[in-house]
Amino acid sequence: MKRVYVGMSADLIHPGHLNIINEARKLGEVTVGLLTDNAIASYKRLPFLTYEQRKIIVENIKGVDKVIPQETLDYVPNLQKLRPDYVVHGDDWKDGVQKSTRERVINALAGWGGELIEVPYTQGISSTQLNKGLKEIGTTPEIRMKTLRRLLGAKKIVRLIEAHNGLTGLIAEHLRIVKGSTAKEFDGMWLSSLTDSTAKGKPDIEAVDVTARLQTLNDIVEVTTKPIVYDGDTGGRPEHFSFTVKSLERLGVSAVIIEDKIGLKMNSLFGTDVEQQQDTPENFAHKISMGKRSQITKDFMIIARIESLILGKGVEDALMRAKAYVSAGADGIMIHSKDKDPKEVFEFCRRFRQEEEHLPLVAVPSTYNKVYEKELSEAGVNIVIYANQLLRSAYPAMIKTATEILENERSYESDSSMMPISEILTLIPGGKQ
Ligand code: SPV
Ligand code: MG
Repeated sequence: MKRVYVGMSADLIHPGHLNIINEARKLGEVTVGLLTDNAIASYKRLPFLTYEQRKIIVENIKGVDKVIPQETLDYVPNLQKLRPDYVVHGDDWKDGVQKSTRERVINALAGWGGELIEVPYTQGISSTQLNKGLKEIGTTPEIRMKTLRRLLGAKKIVRLIEAHNGLTGLIAEHLRIVKGSTAKEFDGMWLSSLTDSTAKGKPDIEAVDVTARLQTLNDIVEVTTKPIVYDGDTGGRPEHFSFTVKSLERLGVSAVIIEDKIGLKMNSLFGTDVEQQQDTPENFAHKISMGKRSQITKDFMIIARIESLILGKGVEDALMRAKAYVSAGADGIMIHSKDKDPKEVFEFCRRFRQEEEHLPLVAVPSTYNKVYEKELSEAGVNIVIYANQLLRSAYPAMIKTATEILENERSYESDSSMMPISEILTLIPGGKQ
């Protein structure tokens, strides 16, 4: 019996997959190398179904003899182990992101006289179309909430961008670039108090109350499927925070981050230019444990944000607080800084990792913006938040156009820097019947 290897993600099984397996079984005994979440997330977005769910489905397809994990996009490690006579794949990977993967398969097979068999692509159906269809259907709060934990398990670093209304939510949801052999997207959204307040024309001092913030959140939830991390400011009084946690869970938010300040909260990026008071570690730990006790689902996360570096109290104070918050049940730590240099953040991360190997660490490189995601990840950071960039780029563009209209007493001069009317009309799907 010849050995046949088929690598697949098998997220949304369609006739194209069955056709490949059918062709493979004609050649011999079929082993499916099922790409793990980590392998898939290394080059495109996380699959809808978990590895275990996908495994059950593939194991039950007629003609599949065995399912093994393929831990990387690269087939070579599994091929070297199995030394199959054939690898069977659709012929649609000759160009595009999988081109180099294909070349490596051919070279590896040559090592023992194996052969790559390419099955003609099944017309009329593709995972890309199905993915698009699924996005249009939407998601459920439960599935959305769980996705952050799955991403944390599958990716070196989870990338979030701020959203402050439906439109920015759509950017975070759909923007995708292909760079070399990888497709890049944002993994989810940060519901920033700064940008939500600013978009409402209010200062970032918790004056936009939770009810108003939840309205923004609802606008975003309605048009997106990606996970959401909610900026919970100080969390308010512990008694109030318990209610916020339940509201966020109901909407399918994955995590809330609350910061250890009390009194009139002002934006952290003011640093010590304004009077800001940090809560005592004991009080804040109490707030976290109240939140954890009121949580209903097992997937929701409460992440404690430490303001010690913002307030000039140093890494030692931050580490002492991290310890207290983790003991109180925090599911992760956000370390914030407004320095241009990430060295304190890195020192915190390094020392925190000596105590806590796996607890998620969050960083917000707004001021230390020269740092690359890779450097953050190597320092132990699991979630990077681009906390305000969409609003900060939109505002100057709007001011520029408004100024030009005043200057010219017409809008013609600004036309070239604006989106055409035909595009704005069709920007949001469903507007034209
Ligand atoms: C926000 O985006 O509202 C934040 C991050 O809390 S920061 O503005 O840096 O405080
Ligand atoms: Mg904030």
